[in-house]
Amino acid sequence: MKILMVCLGNICRSPLAQGVMEQKIKKYNLTWEVDSAGTSGYHDGEKPDARAIKVAKDKGLSIEKQISRKITKEDLYYYNLICVMDAQNYNEVKRFSQLHQTEANIELLLNLVYPGQNRQVPDPYYDGKFEEVYNMLDIALEKFVASQLSVH
Ligand code: 4NP
Repeated sequence: MKILMVCLGNICRSPLAQGVMEQKIKKYNLTWEVDSAGTSGYHDGEKPDARAIKVAKDKGLSIEKQISRKITKEDLYYYNLICVMDAQNYNEVKRFSQLHQTEANIELLLNLVYPGQNRQVPDPYYDGKFEEVYNMLDIALEKFVASQLSVH
């Protein structure tokens, strides 16, 4: 499976989601791929937010080599699953996909494990709640990977 994690800036939530998923891929010895991108391009070329790097490091993850980038049309074709953190960015990616008439598989990340609930991963950029975001991602992605392993 090839997964793209998407948020607004690609410096807080989606880099953490990528880091957590990389850890699961290693843990379960999967041949999956993961990357991340933002819908905005506001932080193109930047490293993740220092607070995201710190919480990741505290949990044993290294995300500091990631570089922020904006989602591209090619991403919509390349990835089998595009996981978006919140409704605003979900709508943005959907609109982008419709514009290019792709059939990309775009989901709210938390709907993968809490179907139909439209739960969102809150933006920690202003409130600084990075650890909450990390914990939410770790629990959800563990559940998601486990569900996929039991099916296949
Ligand atoms: P992210 O957080 O979407 O989780 O990377 C944000 C990063 C930057 C901004 C907003 C959210 N910003 O407005 O610059």
